[in-house]
Amino acid sequence: MRSIERIDGDVAECGVRQGRSTIFMLMSDLRPRQYHLFDSFAGLSEPTAEDRKRNGRTSWKSGDLINVDLYEPTRDALAFFYDRVCAHGLIICDDYGSALCPGARKAFDQFFENRPEGIIELPTGQAIVVKAS
Ligand SMILES: C[S@@+](CC[C@H](N)C(=O)[O-])C[C@H]1O[C@@H](n2cnc3c(N)ncnc32)[C@H](O)[C@@H]1O
Repeated sequence: MRSIERIDGDVAECGVRQGRSTIFMLMSDLRPRQYHLFDSFAGLSEPTAEDRKRNGRTSWKSGDLINVDLYEPTRDALAFFYDRVCAHGLIICDDYGSALCPGARKAFDQFFENRPEGIIELPTGQAIVVKAS
């Protein structure tokens, strides 16, 4: 939140459940902004072939309660939000580095393959993209 302190834009979170991470963001947000909070309240959608691990299995099934960690919802969220993110705004993928969520990483890698932004992978498993313009 500190790194977007000077950025005049809204926040959107996909997979809020009861809003725990939202509360952390709100508590450290020094700027008045709108929060757009999304949740299916039905858990994950159906995993696809893109979500299979090297052993051919998926870690999740439809209805499991994790963030938008599958290929299709990650791809679709990027397609929806990318043009709406302001210059220097951040796009964060919570489970980019998780071995349990290969589809989320695949969706990010494919989406940013031919775009100007690089993907910054954190040792804690998240990935951050700083929107170019
Ligand atoms: C682990 S919880 C979120 C936890 C929350 N961020 C927190 O810090 O407490 C994951 C949430 O993501 C939602 N979810 C999963 N896949 C989704 C999708 N494709 N679209 C919308 N919500 C989704 C689930 O319904 C669930 O409430």
